[in-house]
Amino acid sequence: MDEPTRALAGRAAIVTGAARGIGLAAATRLARAGARVALIDIDAAALSEAVEPLAAEGLAVFPVEADLSTRADAIAAVALVGERFGGLDILVNNAAIVDDTPLAALDDERWRAVMAVNLDSVLWMTQAASDLLAASEAGRIVNLASTQGLRGQPDALAYSTAKGGVVNLTRSLAVDLGPLGICVNAVAPGFIDTRMARMPDGGHEHTSDWYQDIYVKHGRMPLRRAGTPEDVAGPILFLAGDDARYITGQILVVDGGFTATY
Ligand SMILES: NC(=O)c1ccc[n+]([C@@H]2O[C@H](COP(=O)([O-])OP(=O)(O)OC[C@H]3O[C@@H](n4cnc5c(N)ncnc54)[C@H](O)[C@@H]3O)[C@@H](O)[C@H]2O)c1
Repeated sequence: MDEPTRALAGRAAIVTGAARGIGLAAATRLARAGARVALIDIDAAALSEAVEPLAAEGLAVFPVEADLSTRADAIAAVALVGERFGGLDILVNNAAIVDDTPLAALDDERWRAVMAVNLDSVLWMTQAASDLLAASEAGRIVNLASTQGLRGQPDALAYSTAKGGVVNLTRSLAVDLGPLGICVNAVAPGFIDTRMARMPDGGHEHTSDWYQDIYVKHGRMPLRRAGTPEDVAGPILFLAGDDARYITGQILVVDGGFTATY
């Protein structure tokens, strides 16, 4: 199914962490809008399962397996996609891992692992892609931040710090890449129903008693529900497209109104 207008026809895009969740929803919207989309993920099995129905739909999708916690893989993945597509217009830096290690247990290895995927990869992918994006008429970078990068949350030190880094890396990149015609923005989702929001017992956090009590019963969530990957994919599509051509350095919060409350 195509978007009403194939507004991104002829564009080439990368979405990282695209085997599931928000990344897959974003890659699907971009492809249905006419873009050729490289879906990059560390999970090869999930990636081929994700790409199969999209390819069957006739969409121009290209799976790339890479571990973006290493600079070498980020550089190699961008080079491969740039060669395959003959350029690059859109980079969506979405890959991340969740972490809930408490302060006392947070060792260097875990801290570095979270920083590598959630923050360093955004820098590495951008460095690798910036020449290709600068050559585009409509270069766009959309980073996935989080409301946790704007606020603190118990036992989320590494994750929140990395996402806070993504927030200001987005602003800094917007300043540095603006003269090259590249717009750099971030989407900051709140509670979204994906694998990442799964709790140790397998349930999703928005079905838990505390979520229902605080966010629904006591009204901390104005829209009274958790978000879906598709709720986030639309704003990503907007920031990747022509209507966002004069927007850069911004953090678009997509959280059902959660951060509008106190
Ligand atoms: N789900 C939420 O509630 C929520 C809220 C705020 C922000 N976010 C952010 O949105 C983005 C997508 O999250 P999601 O909920 O869809 O998560 P998810 O866990 O469903 O998907 C993340 C994807 O990233 C991939 N990935 C992980 N490490 C990788 C690596 N080293 N190299 C390549 N790929 C790797 C995973 O294999 C997975 O397919 C993330 O940046 C996340 O921090 C999510």
